[in-house]
Amino acid sequence: MLILSEIKKHSGIKECIKKSEDYLNYLGYTDHGFRHVNMVADRAKSLAKNLGLSEREQELAAISGYCHDMGNFLQRTDHCYTGAMIFSQFFIEKTQDKAGVLEIMQAIANHDEHKFEIINKIGAILILADKSDVHRSRVKDNSAKNIKEDIHDRVNYSVVDSSFKIDKLKKNIVLKLKIDTKVTGVMEYFEIFNERMILCRKAAEFLNYNFVLVINNFKLS
Ligand SMILES: [Fe+2]
Ligand SMILES: [Fe+2]
Repeated sequence: MLILSEIKKHSGIKECIKKSEDYLNYLGYTDHGFRHVNMVADRAKSLAKNLGLSEREQELAAISGYCHDMGNFLQRTDHCYTGAMIFSQFFIEKTQDKAGVLEIMQAIANHDEHKFEIINKIGAILILADKSDVHRSRVKDNSAKNIKEDIHDRVNYSVVDSSFKIDKLKKNIVLKLKIDTKVTGVMEYFEIFNERMILCRKAAEFLNYNFVLVINNFKLS
């Protein structure tokens, strides 16, 4: 069985994540390094578990989360495809779970908001875990000047708390955000992340759930 704790020991994977982090830092992006991928892996595993997926599927979701952005070091635009292909090069011959490798490849290859398809449950969970990572701790330059001038950093910096809850009875996947409105208003959040929230809704629908967004205790569904 493919297990995240083993994948994390792989020196090639570590190097890809590190080089991707360095490259996106250079381009001025918010965090796409170990903080982001560990967070997405944890969130994906927890979502898979709370949705009742098997232990194997929980690990596949967690691995997809950990590896989804490792293709960025080659180039940003097609990082989903390159990440998927690198993952297969590292693992397809080394595991009995070939189907698991292919499911992870499908999830990684389709996590980009500009050209995505949700093909399997692992991919839907990856979309939810990745697109919901909007948080103050993702901002690399939190100087007052940068927060004022860069809308992406400002919106990320405004989010001080973020958590998922699954309501199995009502079939709701609930993303709760706390935004510091002294940093920015809720409208700016949607100016930047409307597309990502639509993706989360589609991912939830693939899993036969509703996506509910709660911002500062105000429910949007
Ligand atoms: Fe990505
Ligand atoms: Fe990501």
